[in-house]
Amino acid sequence: MEFQTIIEPFRIKTVEPIRRTTRAQRLEAIQEAGYNPFLLKAEDVLIDLLTDSGTGAMSSRQWAGMMVGDESYAGARSFYRFEAAVREITGFKHILPTHQGRAAERILFGSALKPGDIVPNNTHFDTTRANVEYRKAIALDIPIPEARDPKRYHPFKGNMDLEKLEQVLRENPGRVPLVMITITNNSGGGQPVSMANIRGASEIAHRYGVPLFIDACRFAENAWFIKMREEGYADKSPLEIAQELFSYADGATMSAKKDGMANIGGFLAMNDDALAQKCRNMEILGEGFPTYGGLAGYDLEAIAVGLFEALNEDYLRYRIRSIEYLGERMKKVGIPFVEPTGGHAVYIDARELLPHIPWYEYPAWALSLVLYVEGGIRSVEIGSVMFGRQPDGTEKPAAMELVRLAFPRRVYTQSHVDYLAEVLDYIKGLVPRIRGVRIVEEPPVLRHFTARFEPAHGALVVDKE
Ligand code: F0G
Repeated sequence: MEFQTIIEPFRIKTVEPIRRTTRAQRLEAIQEAGYNPFLLKAEDVLIDLLTDSGTGAMSSRQWAGMMVGDESYAGARSFYRFEAAVREITGFKHILPTHQGRAAERILFGSALKPGDIVPNNTHFDTTRANVEYRKAIALDIPIPEARDPKRYHPFKGNMDLEKLEQVLRENPGRVPLVMITITNNSGGGQPVSMANIRGASEIAHRYGVPLFIDACRFAENAWFIKMREEGYADKSPLEIAQELFSYADGATMSAKKDGMANIGGFLAMNDDALAQKCRNMEILGEGFPTYGGLAGYDLEAIAVGLFEALNEDYLRYRIRSIEYLGERMKKVGIPFVEPTGGHAVYIDARELLPHIPWYEYPAWALSLVLYVEGGIRSVEIGSVMFGRQPDGTEKPAAMELVRLAFPRRVYTQSHVDYLAEVLDYIKGLVPRIRGVRIVEEPPVLRHFTARFEPAHGALVVDKE
């Protein structure tokens, strides 16, 4: 008998209490935080779905690995273990550890881009875009058109528009130093990219003599979707699928805080010897000697173990199913979200839920605040606060107004998800009374992290419709 209930494939050995607060306490906390969930004290949050990055629970094997970490400045045993793990999965020649993903981006773009260059990507994550733009280059998003329609089903909604890619390369000779594919496509709903799409992007890029880099943060989740949905992969292991997808690329940036199952860490990997040399020199400037790259030896050990735990089939089945389960609950309640559900998060479609809030009063931001005040749940806006401000200082609406509920790995159980569904059901009833916000203070770049807001109409939830 094959039973249908998918359980958390682990036992809990260590627990960390979470704290209940009252609505009045939360209202005070969010006011103090300038109506910015990033500025809340984590202790004032009940269920923290701000990010799946660095927030996962490590396994007993990872903790054991940490005890044998080698803290030598250069040539530590832990580095070679880390390098072997990354190489087994990705096959790349040069592997540079970094303290997290954006450090890999900064080193790569700092070494490969010049002003006016163009980097095509299915969709840049915010730090990736910021690192490209910091080099005065253009971060060009070219997802397939289906990606921008939250209601449209597509098995690989993270795919890149390959015709556009070809057009960009054709029309801009010498201006595209690399092509990037983000797996899964985080800003576009945590949606997977198919093997065929990666292979296609690789062929096109290589025809123009341009290397393909993979932003590999959630490569294991992406591999699972390929196994489940793409013809010819059902009998392959997630590791074999990952190996194949990396084989089409020339390098990768990775935040090990996601599918590295670690609390900190990342890497930059590539095959090109000359570029690697340039990157190593930059790494020494900012991160440290290339065999530790801003990490402790014990972090390298935790990642070396974690990368393979992320590829475990029982884990991936539970991981993807738990996100899908929340989607099913939300459907029952009538909360619109990006469908199908992605790998690490559910993305509420705030534009659809709150049509009475104009984009310049940031509907998704407002909804994330209501989620906190009513239920103690912290989420993140992926909308016009995060992406509305253009490099020239003007504003335009983001492609979508989303609230992301991102799940830390191996941290919350089904009852947390059930609680969340109950809160969302309650919030659904408040919808006509929810109002937007305005920005009162903002920094020039990556404003969502530190900007301060206030309710645009007196309160987040007004008394009367
Ligand atoms: N690329 C993608 C697709 C990401 O999702 C992230 C981080 C990064 C790069 C940068 O990695 O944080 O280690 O420097 N995403 C986190 C998130 C922060 O919440 O989605 P990092």
